[in-house]
Amino acid sequence: MKIVLATRNRHKVEEIKQILKIYLPDEIYSGLEILSTADFPEIPDIYEDGKTYYENASKKARIVHKFTGLPSVADDSGIEVDFLNGEPGVISAVYAGENATDDENNRKLLKLLEGVPIENRTARFRCVIVYVDGDVEKIFEGVTEGKVIFEPRGDGGFGYDPLFVPDGFDLTFAQMPKDLKNRISHRAKAIKKFAEFISEILQKQN
Ligand code: IMP
Repeated sequence: MKIVLATRNRHKVEEIKQILKIYLPDEIYSGLEILSTADFPEIPDIYEDGKTYYENASKKARIVHKFTGLPSVADDSGIEVDFLNGEPGVISAVYAGENATDDENNRKLLKLLEGVPIENRTARFRCVIVYVDGDVEKIFEGVTEGKVIFEPRGDGGFGYDPLFVPDGFDLTFAQMPKDLKNRISHRAKAIKKFAEFISEILQKQN
């Protein structure tokens, strides 16, 4: 079975593959050909203008499915900070501006949280995954709670990883070994649900 991941972000493709490998039985993972938008240059850039993660993910999965005819999977995710009433949320990638770097986004977040004590820096990463194949659309969601610390720590991962310490841990996502992040992250939780769904489909086919 082929599936297409609706992203050109290499970090995400790798992360998603690693997580699927954790949750899918070997025989199913090895029978899965995981492609991405990068394999289909004819697919245009998709503008993420939805008001919710679901709207963005559904739009991406539908467009990629339309171009490839293959089962398509898109995710949208972000960090929600309670002190900022859930911001940046769906605009996490472009928080500091349309072409903002991770570093610029992180600095903006820290500035807005200046002077806020650790107990009020609660936040969560949320990931919504949408699978589209023909008329079928399925939605999977994962959430990881934690806190935004006072300065970046660690150089793994991407995005807001250096600022986020998940509940129950002392390390930021950027300090953790990849396989630990890939077991506890919002994306891992959503992909675990997706993996269960894909396993069912493939087992029915066999
Ligand atoms: P998108 O899901 O590609 O639209 O990205 C949303 C943005 O949320 C990313 O650009 C990151 O800034 C942030 N984000 C989403 N997931 C993660 C994560 O696992 N670690 C750090 N930042 C993340």
